[in-house]
Amino acid sequence: MRQPHLRREGDERDAMSEELKRKAAEAALEEVTSGMRLGIGTGSTAEQFVRALAEKVREGFSVIGVPTSERTAALCTELGVPLTTLEACPELDLTIDGADELDLQLRLIKGGGGALLREKIVATASLRMIVIADASKKVARLGAFPLPVEVVPFGLGATRNAIARALADLGYDAPILLRGGDTPFVTDGGHHILDIDLREITDADALSRALLDIPGVVDHGLFLGIADVAYLAGANGVERLVP
Ligand code: 5RP
Repeated sequence: MRQPHLRREGDERDAMSEELKRKAAEAALEEVTSGMRLGIGTGSTAEQFVRALAEKVREGFSVIGVPTSERTAALCTELGVPLTTLEACPELDLTIDGADELDLQLRLIKGGGGALLREKIVATASLRMIVIADASKKVARLGAFPLPVEVVPFGLGATRNAIARALADLGYDAPILLRGGDTPFVTDGGHHILDIDLREITDADALSRALLDIPGVVDHGLFLGIADVAYLAGANGVERLVP
C-alpha cells in the first residue's frame, strides 16, 4: 500500500525539478536574440531549453544551432530547431548548456550525460557560455559529483593505471569506475568514460593539466574559465550568477 504513495511523492519531486529546469532555461532564453548562432547543450535541463527555443522558432525567431550530442540533434530536428555543424559554422555567439556541479567562480563539472567532449568543443567555439541548472547544482567546492574523464578504448587498463598514478601524485585516493561496467558506455565520439569519485577537488587547474597530460585521455569534465553566466532556479526564483 505504501508504494503508490511513495511514487506520487517521487513524481511531485520530479515535476518540481523539471519546473526549476524550465525556469532556468527560460531565463537564459531571454539572452538569445534573433539571428544568433547557438551551441545547444545536452541533458535534461538543456532539453528544457530546446523546448522553449522551439516555441520561439515557431513564432518566427531565427536562430541556427550546433548540437552537442546526437541526442540533442534528434530533439532539435523533431521540434524544428534549425541545425548546422561546427564545420560549417566554426564560431558561435552563445552556448547554453547544463552542468552537474558549478562553483561560485563558475567552474563546472560536466559529462554526467556523457557529452563532455562535444560540449567543451562547442562552448569553447562560442563567444559566451550560459549555464542553466537548478540551484542544487551550486557547490562551495567541486568534486562531490564524480568527475567524468573521456578515454579512448585502446589501452583502457593502461590509461586507467596512469590516471590512478597521477591522482596519487596529487594526493587523491579516488575510486575510478568505468561507466557502464561490463557493457561500457560509448560516447558520440566512440570513446569510454571513467568516473572518478574525488569527493573534493583541491586544485582544479592542477588536476586538469595532469589528466590532459595522459595519453589515452581525450578530455575531462572540468570546464575551467569557460562559463560566463549561470541561471540557477530555486524555490525563491532564478539567480543570475557571474564569476
Ligand atoms: C551532459 C552534461 C549535462 O549538461 C549535465 O550532465 C547536466 O545534466 P542535467 O541537466 O540532466 O542535470 O554535462 O554531458
